[in-house]
Amino acid sequence: MSHFPSIIPRPLELEGGDGNFQLSRDTSFYTNTPLAQNAVAWFVDEFYRQSGISLRQSETKTSGTVALRFQNDLAPENYILSIQNEGIEIRASEARGFLYGAVSLFQCIPFDSPGAVGQWQLPALEIRDAPRFGWRGLMLDSARHFQPVSWVKKFIDTLVLHKFNVLHWHLTEDQGWRIEIDKYRALTSVSAWRKHSRVGHELKASTTDFDGRPHGGFYSKAELREVVAYAAARGVTIVPEIEMPGHAKAVLAAYPELSCTGGPFEVETKWGIHDDVFCAGNDDVIRFLEDVLEEVLEIFPSQFIHVGGDECHKTRWKECLKCQARIKHENLADENELQSWFVRHFDTFLTARGRRLIGWDEILEGGLAQNAAVMSWRGEEGGIAAARAGHDVVMAPNQQTYLDYYQSANRASEPLAIGGDLSLAKVYAYEPIPESLTPEEAKHVLGGQGQLWTEYMPRPEIVEYMAYPRACALAETLWSPAQPRAFDEFLPRLKAHLRLLDRLHLNYRQVD
Ligand code: ACM
Ligand code: ZN
Repeated sequence: MSHFPSIIPRPLELEGGDGNFQLSRDTSFYTNTPLAQNAVAWFVDEFYRQSGISLRQSETKTSGTVALRFQNDLAPENYILSIQNEGIEIRASEARGFLYGAVSLFQCIPFDSPGAVGQWQLPALEIRDAPRFGWRGLMLDSARHFQPVSWVKKFIDTLVLHKFNVLHWHLTEDQGWRIEIDKYRALTSVSAWRKHSRVGHELKASTTDFDGRPHGGFYSKAELREVVAYAAARGVTIVPEIEMPGHAKAVLAAYPELSCTGGPFEVETKWGIHDDVFCAGNDDVIRFLEDVLEEVLEIFPSQFIHVGGDECHKTRWKECLKCQARIKHENLADENELQSWFVRHFDTFLTARGRRLIGWDEILEGGLAQNAAVMSWRGEEGGIAAARAGHDVVMAPNQQTYLDYYQSANRASEPLAIGGDLSLAKVYAYEPIPESLTPEEAKHVLGGQGQLWTEYMPRPEIVEYMAYPRACALAETLWSPAQPRAFDEFLPRLKAHLRLLDRLHLNYRQVD
């Protein structure tokens, strides 16, 4: 039986043809547009990794080539892939379209078929493909546990393979600051390191359950620029997250004068939510965060900049003279409006620099500038309210997209996780457009993303285990049409696809 490709995410239209194309070491690439260069480079690299064969580029289109051609009536991420006996053609109008055509082509290669080495038969077919959503993301928390740059690149490789186009990079937390800032050197000498970490589950832990080992690390500016460029060449935009006004204890350990009480503090060693946050009444805090963001903007060219905004306890603000003075001076009703004032300040700051603010759904409380976008994590409610109020929304509801939740009800057989229950089937069943939105409101849903909070993922291979294969299901949710859609149809394709993930040495969870 001829191999039929198990492309994930499933293309919009796929039609089988007659015959096969023989891919071999003599196959070469031909292109008439520089827009296809990243796609060719990506394919040649990945193919070399799998086969040890370096495919060449040719100056002319002959029989047996893979031709990448510009077609201007295609949307930027759309592509047409045509495999025929005589040759292969990928058509697109922009770099991402060519790249996604190359990714689908790569998934058509039967690397595992017996006797195929050096001579692969690709079934004739025609694919016309287009994504359902423009924001297809995964969020990586490199703050609770630090991952090396080499692995972050590997993680980006897995995004490309599933046509994700956003890496939301969570770089600051109570437990660690991970980004080099020239103006505030103590952020990397002090805030990037904690003396030890919790072992076992935080909610069950005793006061002495720590691992006795320092943990930390940070990304230098040169490394961050390298990762940004690596991602960009692969169609992935990195959206950095700098948390404010909560989740800031690592900063306060280095700069206690930015808190309400003056400290002292240490970089947090326990998980959970902590009372000490940035003082919203202190102008030095505003200046500090503006300085940090100026340097962040130099590194990350993304349209959106994430400012966190979640889980900011107001305990300290209630007792702080400076915070209370700000509430009075700005005519604010309460501490929620103080947070809203704070977020608006940074919305104005980012907008003036040609960027857009995005934050977790708490930023809606107390009002929000129209240009700001909302990431809905406490279920869909924040997303619904935001879309109705005319804000753009990225859906990240915990019950369906928190990839730090357990993958099986049989918890004893799984690595320790934060809690929850999120099977592969449940991720696959997720529908990002809430039923209660009108079609007009639904236009504000930019897409969605999966969350990898790493409190309980101390090593990169555990991040891989929690991410995959659930991220394969999410990729299909975000790329493929809403209908038809059936888990029973997805599962056999996924099982074939897992052989490719084996080849990429990805530590995914086995499918039941
Ligand atoms: C969140 O999970 N605190 C966004
Ligand atoms: Zn204060």
